[in-house]
Amino acid sequence: MATTYDMCMLGMGPVGTTSAVCIAKQGFNVIGVDINPKRVEAFARGEAPFIEPEVNNIIKETLAKGNFRVTADAREAIRSARIIMIAVGTPTPEETGIPDLSQLDAVAKSIGEAIRDVDHQPIVVVRSTVPPGTMRGRIGKIIAEHSGKQIGEGFHIGSNPEFLREGKAVKDFFHTGRVVIGADNAQTAEAIAELYKDVIGKRVKVSVETAEFAKYVDNTWHAVKVTFANEIGRICQAFGGNPAETVDVFLADDQLNISSYYLRPGFAFGGSCLPKDTRGLLALAKQFNVTIPMVGGLLDSNEEQINQGVERIMRHEPKVVGLLGVAFKEHVDDLRESPALMVASKLMAHGIKVVAHDPFYEADEQLDLPRTDKKLTMSTLEDVLAQAEVLAQLHNIDTYNQAARSAKQPVENLTTVTNKDVHDLKETGAAKKAA
Ligand SMILES: NC(=O)c1ccc[n+]([C@@H]2O[C@H](COP(=O)([O-])OP(=O)(O)OC[C@H]3O[C@@H](n4cnc5c(N)ncnc54)[C@H](O)[C@@H]3O)[C@@H](O)[C@H]2O)c1
Repeated sequence: MATTYDMCMLGMGPVGTTSAVCIAKQGFNVIGVDINPKRVEAFARGEAPFIEPEVNNIIKETLAKGNFRVTADAREAIRSARIIMIAVGTPTPEETGIPDLSQLDAVAKSIGEAIRDVDHQPIVVVRSTVPPGTMRGRIGKIIAEHSGKQIGEGFHIGSNPEFLREGKAVKDFFHTGRVVIGADNAQTAEAIAELYKDVIGKRVKVSVETAEFAKYVDNTWHAVKVTFANEIGRICQAFGGNPAETVDVFLADDQLNISSYYLRPGFAFGGSCLPKDTRGLLALAKQFNVTIPMVGGLLDSNEEQINQGVERIMRHEPKVVGLLGVAFKEHVDDLRESPALMVASKLMAHGIKVVAHDPFYEADEQLDLPRTDKKLTMSTLEDVLAQAEVLAQLHNIDTYNQAARSAKQPVENLTTVTNKDVHDLKETGAAKKAA
């Protein structure tokens, strides 16, 4: 049976509506569903049930063209759509922070019941903001239970989070930083990507779980930016500085400040500057009685990163640990506030023997360790590999990558994570045409 609709949107709040009408504007056949009869009636009159610039015009345009309508009949809409997108509310109570997913559960049940006897394989996509794992582990399971079909066989799953700003939603839809598409296979990802054929911006194709998590990551980052700017501004005001000028100086550096630099998960920071100057800023704030909880938490968070690294190593219950790299980062010999030396101190405090190598230090050299009188005796790489029951790689250099690949013992990689396979980050589709 051929499907009537390219896409069915379940939940016509601000998110569902903007996405549905912008997809319809590109020529797709779209049906929206909402359980609130007042919302359905508003659409029939050609009006969105909320204020969002340009949306009413697109509703009228697509209603007139006949490729968009809204109904309360979820079953028929679901059954006749190739892609079923979910944009119901996921309210999150302030006290717990745990999102209420009951609207999603109800929608999942309706989808399961409706697709039980369809003979195509619909793609179910979550657009609501949800914790990672919700699509596969919760919505997908409910759909499977009520349809008697399996994920990847009777239906496919995807995640396509929404990043539009209210008030600029239509503009953001057609000109975006990136469209994030989470799917289990290339065909599903391509089918979702097709809904954005006229959109200018990158397409990022990732796993369903990474796509779900992306929304939390973005919004938390935006909150971090606002809070950081405000904490710096508060200190500036306190000592009589110029907050606007200070931030302009900060923003002028697009190599280290406003860039992807320092933004990849890896190990703790150290060295002669970051810990010392963070302490300096905290002391300045204290001197002027300014409270800056976010910056105030940085050193604790950094120590936690070291503790987690130590825990990962200790899980192997080793008697001897080999450290690959002791300077505070690769390619330098600076040991000041080196997280690697903190790892060594903490392991020794647990009675574990530590053997270490670093290309800039000779075998048998004795290094001072933080928070202990003990010394770290350096070894050759061969000795480290021969003695260690587990290796902790702290520097991302070719010699250590090779050693880690052929190591006979387990390796805990504490270096910075990179993903050379981040998919399809190129400008595509309409972006190419527009260029
Ligand atoms: N508002 C934003 O700016 C924004 C931005 C990005 C992401 N989000 C996320 O998108 C999701 C939706 O946000 P919103 O602001 O549009 O939500 P909303 O609560 O305003 O709208 C949800 C709509 O879903 C309808 N609905 C509920 N159960 C339904 C069902 N079983 N079948 C059909 N319709 C049903 C409701 O009647 C309502 O009209 C949330 O997860 C939110 O966190 C919101």
